[in-house]
Amino acid sequence: MSRDAASDRQLWWQKGAIYQIYPRSFQDSGGDGVGDLRGIEQRLDHLEWLGVDAIWLSPIFPSPMADFGYDVADYCGIHEAFGTMRDFDRLLDACHGRGLKLLLDLVPNHSSSEHPWFAESRSSRDSAKRDWYIWRDPKPDGGPPNNWLSVFGGSAWELDDATGQYYYHAFLKEQPDLNWRNAAVREAIYDVMRFWFDKGVDGFRIDVLWHLIKDEHLRDNPLNPDYREGDPPHHRLLPVYSTDQREIHDIAAEMRAVADAYRARVLIGEIYLPIERLVAYYGHEGRGVHLPFNFQLLTLPWNAREIDRAINEYEAALPDEGWPNWVLGNHDKSRIASRVGPEQARVAAMLLLTLRGTPTIYYGDELGMPDVPVPPDRVQDPQGLRLGAAFSRDPARTPMPWSAETNAGFTTGAPWLPLNGDFPRRNVDAQRGDPGSMLTLYRRLLSLRRARPALAIGDYFPLPADGDALAFVREHAGDRMLVALNLGGGAQSIDIEQRSGETVIATHARLEGQRVAGRIDLGPNEAVLVDLDEPPAQPEKGSGPFSGRNGP
Ligand code: GLC
Repeated sequence: MSRDAASDRQLWWQKGAIYQIYPRSFQDSGGDGVGDLRGIEQRLDHLEWLGVDAIWLSPIFPSPMADFGYDVADYCGIHEAFGTMRDFDRLLDACHGRGLKLLLDLVPNHSSSEHPWFAESRSSRDSAKRDWYIWRDPKPDGGPPNNWLSVFGGSAWELDDATGQYYYHAFLKEQPDLNWRNAAVREAIYDVMRFWFDKGVDGFRIDVLWHLIKDEHLRDNPLNPDYREGDPPHHRLLPVYSTDQREIHDIAAEMRAVADAYRARVLIGEIYLPIERLVAYYGHEGRGVHLPFNFQLLTLPWNAREIDRAINEYEAALPDEGWPNWVLGNHDKSRIASRVGPEQARVAAMLLLTLRGTPTIYYGDELGMPDVPVPPDRVQDPQGLRLGAAFSRDPARTPMPWSAETNAGFTTGAPWLPLNGDFPRRNVDAQRGDPGSMLTLYRRLLSLRRARPALAIGDYFPLPADGDALAFVREHAGDRMLVALNLGGGAQSIDIEQRSGETVIATHARLEGQRVAGRIDLGPNEAVLVDLDEPPAQPEKGSGPFSGRNGP
């Protein structure tokens, strides 16, 4: 089979890169300081030029914005701050016209307390929708039904005085959890999926998928013996009964069946779980979500040996049908440039875009954006407001800097969160023409991924390395590339045995276009991508455990 034929057989979400947009912060077209759909449409040029394949929008639906859209009051509408349904339809058409896919955020675990479903549910104990949410009587002492804690602090139960029962909310009390044991709730959300699929939306990122269904008996969660002061307060308990229940896999399979009734749609699950439990979300015989988000690069210490081990564990744990994916940043975590520093952020970009599996890029990371300090009186995030500034997610949600103009070209009004202080230098315009910029690095890596089957769909073969070094080969039908990365600040030497080739992309320009053979020497924070010579001095098959199972 020719390389092209093989790569044609891969689905768009396997070959492509996903780009996450936080709509409030991408581009404001209306001058109110908050990004919107028309703004996104105006910036599609950037995304096409950058070379991503799909965009995922964090929630754009009507919402009181208690959790910035993750509190949905109407699953089939558009928040007026973001525009109208016409604007959405235009955006979808514009994306498709450019060959870009569009993914939405589905928030099925909870609605807003202002959703009509909840208004009806709370209206009386006899309401037809009472069972759509999780209502329980108080304990005999009047306290909450169990010890479960809210992710945003305090008990996860709120007493409704009018009806004398508590309702459960894993997040804010303004985000009551839907009762996924109720068949009508399931159908209602599946109808929401169909509504957007019918419009042509290409898929969903599913919010907190592992939370959806809770223990039938709502048993108390056990104490977490490893809890340390300073950890998020809800980590005091192990979420044994409140998340990741056996029945979640039936729900994921039902969602998958809804998606499979359409052509080429993708479901991505937001799931923070250890690898062995994460991969279960691919489902029995691959009938779960297509991509359970793999957050290891977000959660692990930036340490070559730990990351090496995690990649290998993940590759080994993937079911036969399971396509891998990697994430370096999102709207809930500190940005990569702040976590590892500006120099390592380039190494991280090389890692994200050369590992086997679909990469998700968080807007702004392609500029090396750091977390932006937000003064205490400007904190917006409910998590920061409730748990303290250290827990605020605002610093990773600041406006995209487009140019050196007023407000970085993001808005003509007052931006809802502060801009990065260095926006006059760190912006899209400035980096576009700079061959050494982070933006150029992202663009070149994305372009090479498209051009080279080894990177897009090739198998993964780890190479032995130690210290801060990480190295692997990607290979597909004779196309072979080697990636060598230095995740630390000292020098590293990597033995590549009989292999030789030429460096095609590197973190540092002087490393490009060099011949390498037998060994690669890297300075601090350096990484190189090597086009290996053909014919291979030694076939990769058999040199590692991850050959061909998921390839064509
Ligand atoms: C997810 C979202 C996060 C939100 C939470 C509750 O983790 O990514 O932003 O606060 O769910 O919906």
